[in-house]
Amino acid sequence: MAVITGAARGIGLAIAQRFAMEGARVVIADLNEQGAQDAAAAIGHGALAVPLDVTRQESIDGMIAAVVAQCGRLDILVNNAGIFDLAPIAEITRDSYRRVYAVNVEGLLFTLQAGARQMIAQGHGGRIINFASQAGRRGEALVAVYCSSKAAVISLTQSAGLDLIKHGINVNTIAPGVVDNEHWDDVDARFARYEGLQPGEKKRAVGAAVPFGRMARPKEIAGLAVFLAGPDAGYIVAQTYNIDGGNWMS
Ligand SMILES: NC(=O)c1ccc[n+]([C@@H]2O[C@H](COP(=O)([O-])OP(=O)(O)OC[C@H]3O[C@@H](n4cnc5c(N)ncnc54)[C@H](O)[C@@H]3O)[C@@H](O)[C@H]2O)c1
Repeated sequence: MAVITGAARGIGLAIAQRFAMEGARVVIADLNEQGAQDAAAAIGHGALAVPLDVTRQESIDGMIAAVVAQCGRLDILVNNAGIFDLAPIAEITRDSYRRVYAVNVEGLLFTLQAGARQMIAQGHGGRIINFASQAGRRGEALVAVYCSSKAAVISLTQSAGLDLIKHGINVNTIAPGVVDNEHWDDVDARFARYEGLQPGEKKRAVGAAVPFGRMARPKEIAGLAVFLAGPDAGYIVAQTYNIDGGNWMS
């Protein structure tokens, strides 16, 4: 049984679709309950939708309890849910900082913890795959909060990976570059406001700047998640993998 957080749309949805194609039973765990239900219905293959707000501990615990009640076990957890914001340093608000960190850092850590506790109790190990970003590899002038939140995911992956491998739980992270989806339409609109650009201009520019020549499609990220969840990745521990068309080399 594989839980993917934030899988009602975007990269998480592509991973859920791909895991289901590979024969896994998937749980779409998302704040967007209707979106999660629609995604699970479209995927079929016994896919379930479970409501989840990673910023609330009782919601995380309820999600794990629902998965165990309905499926009996948890084998794979993909911590994909994440949010974005941007502002110049002089304009960052505590509210923006708290919202981004509540989901990307605190939410990820305590979902990882709850998943790991369940896997430890089961006694058969497991796989945890986190989502960072190329933004976690390098700061950006307007993106201090998001970039630092994703750097924290890379660091948490290292510590959790080293701690949990003794239980047979592999923790690794995927760091995508720029992925063409609704998330990036929102990012584009935010950059347009601060950089005086037309809608779509930032997105076109970042896509053209990728060495591969374009942004990624969500399904191009999903294969790496399948690999990290699969039998050939057993010796991979506490790593972060870039999948970004050549943007960063780190
Ligand atoms: N799209 C990109 O270019 C890109 C690049 C690098 C990294 N990432 C990272 O990949 C992951 C997925 O990105 P995406 O582009 O598919 O994003 P998205 O915005 O399309 O999807 C995010 C999903 O997370 C859910 N979510 C938000 N807050 C939540 C919460 N509190 N609890 C549970 N679910 C919540 C949303 O409802 C949504 O379905 C994120 O962690 C993101 O930071 C994305």
